[in-house]
Amino acid sequence: MGNDQFEQVASLLKKSRFTTAYTGAGISVESGIPPFRGVGGIWSKYDPASLEIGYFLDHPKESWEVIKKLFYNYFQVSKPNKAHLVLTRMEMAGMLSRIITQNIDNLHQEAGSHHIFEFHGNSNKLICLTCHRNFPVSEINMDHLPPTCRECGGLLKPDFVFFGEAIPQLPLSSAYEAAGCSDVFLIIGTTGEVMPANQIPPLAKQNGATIIEINTQPSNYTPNITDIFLQGKASEMMGKIEEKLFSPSLNNN
Ligand code: APR
Repeated sequence: MGNDQFEQVASLLKKSRFTTAYTGAGISVESGIPPFRGVGGIWSKYDPASLEIGYFLDHPKESWEVIKKLFYNYFQVSKPNKAHLVLTRMEMAGMLSRIITQNIDNLHQEAGSHHIFEFHGNSNKLICLTCHRNFPVSEINMDHLPPTCRECGGLLKPDFVFFGEAIPQLPLSSAYEAAGCSDVFLIIGTTGEVMPANQIPPLAKQNGATIIEINTQPSNYTPNITDIFLQGKASEMMGKIEEKLFSPSLNNN
């Protein structure tokens, strides 16, 4: 992949009035969180049905046992990687307007980004299905599953979107707004397999955005909407973009 591709990407990002980053599980793989699909993916070891809302309500203990293993054991140790940190630096430099993420790992927040919209919610909070109180996950003892509300005894559910649940209104409307007005749309680490999240990038393309995609391998988007495909690990590709954007000494222009 030529140096000129990174020059081209940096020039597009510098000229762009409204840039959106759209991230999936691939951006967090180098933080130690496995992806859902592909080699070693979570769904090759666990049945996604355990994260279907009907199953959770009928079998809360069994569902929570999977949830704890899949998410809470990993998330306590994972840290943002270079890719998250470069997005934060771009936001601070006024080069990034929105992050729309499918991830629930809170790593964009931990990297210091602000304009984040979480299409599938966030795992940091639990909600009581009876009294609707919220609790930070740090306050909940997960030695006894399923966790229950200390106020009313109701069942606690992670505040992320289960299969079969609706996308929260704010991230949904913000994603559609971003898809409507982005000059550059930067897709990082997603297969594009899951509805309705996977409708957002094609909408951005229809509205005239230039699509830049970072992935270790082609995704559903690559042959259809991607204008510039940077094949490689998110942290490496974002590191090269960072050099072009912020290290004038390396830039010959
Ligand atoms: N750098 C960049 N991309 C990577 C890396 C990496 N180091 N490692 C893997 N990838 C890519 C894979 O090639 C794949 O395209 O990241 C993508 C991960 O795909 P998925 O696991 O399907 O993740 P995602 O697309 O975010 O899934 C969407 O599915 O299960 C639901 O709600 C869950 O939000 C998730 C949604």
